[in-house]
Amino acid sequence: MNATGVRIAAVGRYAPERVVTNADFEQMLDTTDEWIVTRTGMKRRHWAAPEQATSDLAIAAAKDALSRTGLGPNDIDCYVVATATPDFPFPATACIVASALGAVDKPAFDIEIACSGFIYGLTVAASMVRAGVYKRVMLIGAETLSKIANPKDRGTVILFGDGAGAVILEASERDAFLASELGSDGARPELLQVAIGGSRRAADAAALDAGEQFIRMEGREVFKFAVTKMIEATDVALQKAGLSKSDLDFLIPHQANRRIIDAAAKYLDMPPEKVLVNIEEYGNTSAASIPLALSEALDAGRIKDGDTIVFVGFGGGLSWGAVCWKWIA
Ligand code: ACO
Repeated sequence: MNATGVRIAAVGRYAPERVVTNADFEQMLDTTDEWIVTRTGMKRRHWAAPEQATSDLAIAAAKDALSRTGLGPNDIDCYVVATATPDFPFPATACIVASALGAVDKPAFDIEIACSGFIYGLTVAASMVRAGVYKRVMLIGAETLSKIANPKDRGTVILFGDGAGAVILEASERDAFLASELGSDGARPELLQVAIGGSRRAADAAALDAGEQFIRMEGREVFKFAVTKMIEATDVALQKAGLSKSDLDFLIPHQANRRIIDAAAKYLDMPPEKVLVNIEEYGNTSAASIPLALSEALDAGRIKDGDTIVFVGFGGGLSWGAVCWKWIA
């Protein structure tokens, strides 16, 4: 195995056609556009059709990424899907995605660490490339959170959207990966969880009646944790990279709440034009939110060669992480 550098060669994205607006929620729940915008910054989110599973979104994003290169599905040596909403408990969604793309016999696996999935996935996938294990790895953050959002809970259902973002990582002489800082604290899983359907508690009739198949969240607790950990993880990742806040060209945060992003950006002295936010259009798409934002920023020509970026996220676990990245065009 030869150690090498890594870069992101291409980024693709997909969001389902159906758009759910705050006005739609006003029809369904005791809520208002004003409350949702003020508390979250969200205006719209895309929701999958009933027949669309997470793999369908991931495949569309992966095809978009491949179409931006001259590469075919068998030029990718390994497929990784970060998702908290897999098609099935098993097999892994990545296996379904790789085969549907036309990849033959390629290794494929999922990473499940909720909204931190893209950050953890980027660390794992980039490390495999840098170690010389694989030349190219496709990392896809893909979610259909609308399927596990409680339609009767105004405190959570308004937050979540569906989507997918795919990045193709490849070996490179120059190295984009500057540092990673990951963490978790599983002492209080109930702060943010789907409580049934795993090996701890069955999805029996009583649990289903109580709506326990849906996301449960202590919003205020998660909010405080999110701000603290986004700041800490960004600071440590920069420190590990030998950089300071002033070296940062872009912060690409997990899009969970506009107020969380603004609080972190304020501490980091990041002016609004350096913080990439698309929460207005997509809501919280968990592991898909960072690659979706990256993809849009690249298409808008906002990121250029040599820019220093911190990708930062947090989520269920609780979990968090930041990756410091040098953009190599
Ligand atoms: N419309 C109107 N009122 C509402 C709504 C709504 N959609 N939702 C809640 N309220 C009410 C509450 O019932 C409460 O009323 P009360 O004071 O009469 O009891 C009031 O608004 C305040 O509720 P809070 O929950 O305290 O509101 P808060 O300002 O904390 O905002 C929110 C809630 C937006 C959920 C916020 O706490 C948040 O963003 N938390 C972090 C969420 C997050 O980042 N999750 C991340 C990961 S998700 C994942 O990993 C899959």
